[in-house]
Amino acid sequence: MHAAITLTVNGNEHRISVDTRASVLDVLREDLGLTGSKKGCDHGQCGACTVLLDGRRANACLALAVAHDGAEIVTVEGLADGGRLSPVQEAFIERDAFQCGYCTPGQLCSATAVLDEAGRGWPSAVTADLASDPVLDDAEIRERMSGNLCRCGAYMGIVAAVRDAAARSGDTAARRADA
Ligand code: FES
Ligand code: FES
Repeated sequence: MHAAITLTVNGNEHRISVDTRASVLDVLREDLGLTGSKKGCDHGQCGACTVLLDGRRANACLALAVAHDGAEIVTVEGLADGGRLSPVQEAFIERDAFQCGYCTPGQLCSATAVLDEAGRGWPSAVTADLASDPVLDDAEIRERMSGNLCRCGAYMGIVAAVRDAAARSGDTAARRADA
């Protein structure tokens, strides 16, 4: 069974007919040709498929496309501003925060959301002081990025890159942690 839905992906609107059993990940990759988002486990456990779904990070392999008619999605292909890489992308390159690169699209989308979430003052499971804005120190970054696995073990670079990106994005809490 198929259904017609509209998805806006990286600013482009798509009116498409999807299999009602299809995940957002499969629609992105198979129907729209956006293969940046990766299928690691297809079970919501690795984070390789992470995208921004209506402004929040989500595992695209667990999101039923037909349930997200009208959604706005940003994938790794949409993080750069034209030819200019985002602060997170630049930091990943500078910190050599990848090896094979398979987990990297999900890491980049997740890290982008981490900066947004911390900027909004959202606490994590390791935030000690719930009355103040969270400080993006290494413990906070590890916790907030814990849904994104890296089989190559590039975690040291990933944590450093997120810290740098937070500082570059003007996150005062991160600057304090980095000092
Ligand atoms: S492919 Fe979606 S979480 Fe692993
Ligand atoms: S860079 Fe290879 S899985 Fe993360």
